[in-house]
Amino acid sequence: MALSYIPSSEGFWRTSETSPTIITLLFSFCFIAISFISARSRSRNKDGAKMYHLGGYPMLSAWLFFTKRYDFMCGTFERTGQKMFRFRILQHHVVALSGEEGRKAFVSEKNFDLQEGYRILGGPAPSPRDINIEPVDGGATLFIKHVLNLFRKDRIMDVTPHLLEDVNRRMDDWGKSGKINPFQEMYNLVFQMTVRMGTCRELADDPQATARLSKLFLLHEKAASPISLLLPWLPGRAKRAKEQATRGLYDLLSSYVDLRRQSSVRSADAIDMLIADGHDDATTIAFTLGIIFAGVVNTGINVCWTVIYLGDEPAWKQKVVDEVKTLLFNHGSTTGPIHQRFSAVPLNAWEEEMPVLDAVIKETIRFTMSGTALRRNIGGDMLIAHKTVRNGDFLAYSLGDIHFDDQIYPNPLSFDPARFLEQPGDASDVLFPFLGWGAGRHPCAGMRAAKLEIKLAIALFLSKFEFSIVDAFGKAPKYLPQPDRNNIQNAKPLGDPCYLKFERIESMR
Ligand code: HEM
Repeated sequence: MALSYIPSSEGFWRTSETSPTIITLLFSFCFIAISFISARSRSRNKDGAKMYHLGGYPMLSAWLFFTKRYDFMCGTFERTGQKMFRFRILQHHVVALSGEEGRKAFVSEKNFDLQEGYRILGGPAPSPRDINIEPVDGGATLFIKHVLNLFRKDRIMDVTPHLLEDVNRRMDDWGKSGKINPFQEMYNLVFQMTVRMGTCRELADDPQATARLSKLFLLHEKAASPISLLLPWLPGRAKRAKEQATRGLYDLLSSYVDLRRQSSVRSADAIDMLIADGHDDATTIAFTLGIIFAGVVNTGINVCWTVIYLGDEPAWKQKVVDEVKTLLFNHGSTTGPIHQRFSAVPLNAWEEEMPVLDAVIKETIRFTMSGTALRRNIGGDMLIAHKTVRNGDFLAYSLGDIHFDDQIYPNPLSFDPARFLEQPGDASDVLFPFLGWGAGRHPCAGMRAAKLEIKLAIALFLSKFEFSIVDAFGKAPKYLPQPDRNNIQNAKPLGDPCYLKFERIESMR
């Protein structure tokens, strides 16, 4: 699960001017010094405020935090029986929270800063700063304002027919029947829609440029390793690969920003909005990269899992098919190809008249969004559940803590959208029972667009094709792949790959 997509300012550990030898020496020295200090305190498992302290080697907890984050968080809570524990990552102190009190503080405490949390311990969103280009207005507040502005209701309504055209064109490229890897092809549909909404029409209309952009994002993602995330300044292949990908992304987007600046007519497209707001090129590119990263990473993976779970649950698939038919019957136009008929459906209907698909998406997200959200305490020492969280401490909350709590979600590992149909609006007494779209001070700014994209892709897919899930040999798979909960970028599939075997059907009536 990637949550770290807000354009951020320079990380603490980046010292791009320092020579590699000095860095390696410093690194070795720090490692020895920190290990020595922590080894002395290893036997002490309670700090002054009686919070459980993991002790041990900070490098080991750091390594586990970056390689097996989900197992590390859940396993430590389970092993220690604590609701909170403290550990070190190099020189940083991290407080892991769980339970209702911890969750409530995590999402609603005003001194817990989201951007600071992800800036150092978060994932790998591409930023012009990684190639030493400094945006003038790179702050989180302006970025979120841009996201909210971009996904205003009127703008989404205007762009919906273009999104449907895009999705339809790409689905037609699959042919009348065949086999696709959903984690590529369904993902690509979301990539295309995100480029349509987050950049400009010249780029979105150019399949080769869009494919190149997608490839560069993939290269950037592949360059991320635990070491490169932990020590982003450390010279080596990963750093070079990341810089090359960022440079490629920057140059590609830069050419479209130039194109739009030179145009005498302003359009309503996202890049033109940023230009009209007076942003410099680096900010325009940083925000555009942020939108694509934020837009693709979670929406892309969730559309893939949604279609997998529907394929595995014929009864739910049928309910969604019926709902899509009703939507089309009530609001769609009666003539033209199917994607054009969907274009007539108003946004309100997509948002309010699809309770079954809403529940399916929510249940999918409950399953897949089990990564760790991060914050940093920037407001002085404070007490949470009678324990001290110090100024400067990082905070970590695993969404799995709530999403797999069997008191709230009985039989939490079974896929059951009915739990959200029977209990609309999270009517339980529990505080913040669902964090798949964020909550409290940081609800997801892209939720409206993300939900619509998933619905458009699923509605069109179900209307155009009959499908089943198969393995590499075209047979029904013995096991479905599972979301990799330890992957800190997103819930990639673990296990044998599966495919969608599809066949074109007569358009829905
Ligand atoms: C299925 C798709 C998506 C899911 C499941 C999702 C989930 C989330 C979650 C859980 C958070 C809270 C993070 C935290 O508390 O640390 C969040 C925040 C955020 N999301 Fe999304 N997101 C999705 C799509 C998008 C899209 C399409 C965009 C924009 C292009 C976006 C932009 C943001 C932003 C800017 C924030 C931070 C809000 C703030 O700091 O106040 N998200 N999202």
